[in-house]
Amino acid sequence: MRTDLKGKHLITTQDWSVQELESLFELAAELKQARKDGDATRVLDLKTLYMIFFDASTRTRNSFETGITQLGGHGIYLSPDKMQISHGEQAGDTAKVLSRYGEGIAIRHCAYGEGNAYLNAIAEHASVPVLNMQCDIYHPCQILADYLTIKEKFGETRGLKLGVAWTCAPDYLRPISVPQSLILMMPRFGIDVTLAYPPECKLMPQIEAKAKANAEAAGSKFEISHTFEDAFEDADVVIPKSWGPLLTTTDFEEGASIMRQYDTWVCDAERMALGKDHIIYMHPLPADRGREVTDEVIDGPQSVVFDEAENRLHVQKALMALTM
Ligand code: CP
Repeated sequence: MRTDLKGKHLITTQDWSVQELESLFELAAELKQARKDGDATRVLDLKTLYMIFFDASTRTRNSFETGITQLGGHGIYLSPDKMQISHGEQAGDTAKVLSRYGEGIAIRHCAYGEGNAYLNAIAEHASVPVLNMQCDIYHPCQILADYLTIKEKFGETRGLKLGVAWTCAPDYLRPISVPQSLILMMPRFGIDVTLAYPPECKLMPQIEAKAKANAEAAGSKFEISHTFEDAFEDADVVIPKSWGPLLTTTDFEEGASIMRQYDTWVCDAERMALGKDHIIYMHPLPADRGREVTDEVIDGPQSVVFDEAENRLHVQKALMALTM
């Protein structure tokens, strides 16, 4: 039975029950099969999604825009510098106006300390669903695609070990939204999570506490380590990716200097060999090749990064079809 999710926001998967998320994965698999079979899926005929991007994107923009086209609707790409947001229009006014025209508002706003607050302000005033395309705290669509990928590769997910490891890529301070969303959702599906990061790269304490509570409630494990290899040891799945030490400093030079101290935190074949024989390598992309991961690993047989990227399309189509 499919849950009624019409009008529901997705700011974080934490606001969705496991049953609601299961409905989404079920529909994502159906839509993926329909696309493979060449069947039409025009369930959002004449519906419009507004996509406001405060930050750059390759996967998120194109998978949302392509996705709504495949569902029979239309996606409009909006950049704040071309909107009256640039002249200070309040979030509530933007939300009310766009709600009068279309059926959904999707937002990417990753500025630390600002993005999630902006999304919530839009959601408070919108009468259509607000979909988080990544903020400073959460990246739910990425984690939905990650889970679908793991489920496709392993079938049963309960009891799998997922290693989420920080990697060193000091060219800019990436958001903490991916690791935070991973540790929140994966334990709810019975996946044991080991999170490894240098002490300066800690995540928000309330998110780590929630991840622990989620794991306890689901009978899974959530552990934190400051040793890179712990994420790989006996793992079924690893997601090694970089993020900035934003809870320590938001200053780029200081943050990059901290990160450079840990330049051995690179996913390579030696680290992958610590996992189970069937270990898979995942990364939300873009990956900083040579610093976060060796070409041998990301281009090798254990890597499923392009299946993962493709699944953004399928989970987001399900998300739009269910909520809009
Ligand atoms: N993984 C991800 O969100 O990719 P983009 O930044 O290209 O959208």
